Amino acid sequence: MAPTPYVNLYGSHPFYLVMEDGGLAHGVFLLNSNAMDVVLQPSPALTWRTTGGILDFYVFLGPDPKSVVRQYLDVIGSPFMPPYWGLGFHLCRWGYSSTAATRQAVKNMTAARFPLDVQWNDLDYTDAKRDFTFNKNNFKDYPDMVREFHRSGRKYVMIVDPAISSSGPPGSYKPYDDGLKRGVFIRNATGQPLVGKVWPGPTVFPDFTNPETQRWWHDMVQEFHDQVPFDGMWIDMNEPSNFVAGSLDGCPNNKLENPPYVPGVLGGSLRAGTICASSQQYLSSHYNLHSLYGLTEAVASHDALVRVRGKRPFVISRSTFAGHGRFAGHWTGDVRSSWEQLYYSIPEVLLFNLYGVPLVGADICGFLGDTSEELCVRWTQLGAFYPFMRNHNDHGSKPQEPYAFSPAAQEAMRKALVLRYSLLPYLYTLFHKAHSAGETVARPLFLE
Ligand code: GLC
Repeated sequence: MAPTPYVNLYGSHPFYLVMEDGGLAHGVFLLNSNAMDVVLQPSPALTWRTTGGILDFYVFLGPDPKSVVRQYLDVIGSPFMPPYWGLGFHLCRWGYSSTAATRQAVKNMTAARFPLDVQWNDLDYTDAKRDFTFNKNNFKDYPDMVREFHRSGRKYVMIVDPAISSSGPPGSYKPYDDGLKRGVFIRNATGQPLVGKVWPGPTVFPDFTNPETQRWWHDMVQEFHDQVPFDGMWIDMNEPSNFVAGSLDGCPNNKLENPPYVPGVLGGSLRAGTICASSQQYLSSHYNLHSLYGLTEAVASHDALVRVRGKRPFVISRSTFAGHGRFAGHWTGDVRSSWEQLYYSIPEVLLFNLYGVPLVGADICGFLGDTSEELCVRWTQLGAFYPFMRNHNDHGSKPQEPYAFSPAAQEAMRKALVLRYSLLPYLYTLFHKAHSAGETVARPLFLE
């Protein structure tokens, strides 16, 4: 869920690190992908309550907190090395409704003397919100736009949702037709592809635990890249998120759908906001695999990009699980434009570094609702120290690009950006140390 008090977020990292009274540290990792509660008891105790899987525990003895993180990363894998451009400033919004509007944003940034390494597009570029298509009216010259960005030394990233539109006539949409033929979609109790509802309307969900799905995903990425030479992928809605509970036909009545115990998840039901727990994937039931959906999509996207571009990949994902950082980064999803959410982004960014996902940041100035000038200036100053720095805004919210504010605000933001850019070699070195030696990039002081 979007960050809301007392409900489950987008990812699962069953790991804790504790500072003992004597100043030593240890950590514990429960390698388990089932729905679970973690209940904080009066210190120093907590209760882990999982609804399945095996009790595969790792204990990391430290004795200092940095060693605990390194020992954890020895088990789950250390972070991938991002391309240098990934550390620059990224600009996005839902609502750059044409290539003209997208180009204008880049022009405005240049005119106002703001650095911009990566321009993004949200769903606006697509034809009817379907993956691997582009709108032949407003985005008619989309490939040219991307090539232009490249000529000015910039990179380009677009959104890709996992769910595939399933309601068009046969023969009209290759990702669906080809996926059906290759048997890549998650199945319901009757063995048919499970149909839910996401942005394009009725959709089916690729099962990334199936090796054939990984090949199909690569083929779709390759074909789209042959038309539009994008540089990175923004993989969203991959919890997987579903606008109806379970599926358009509901869910069967069985033990996986109604287990004897349901952890404290939103709505008190495992199917809330996602697909049926008893739907079938290649490796096991969705009941067992749900928390791995984003990770398995990140693996597929990472591998596809390496093969298609032959360079270090750039993937930013909303859903994550232990081990995610080997393949991709993370943005913290639909944060509100509020001081409270600015505040909470700090522990979140620091925690993701302990989880081995150092390429992390929150949407600068906030995503949901209108920002204010003061909030946006302060968030840009904070964001200059996020390992991943992107300003992204919701459809319909007031513009919040740096150039949208008063001269004084712009000057403060420019200073923050110049400071970040002056530190980029240092930041890049920190990433290399994270990648090669299991270190963190943004770290809480207690690690020092
Ligand atoms: C989701 C994403 C958000 C994106 C929107 C439209 O809410 O979290 O970042 O703008 O979908 O694609």
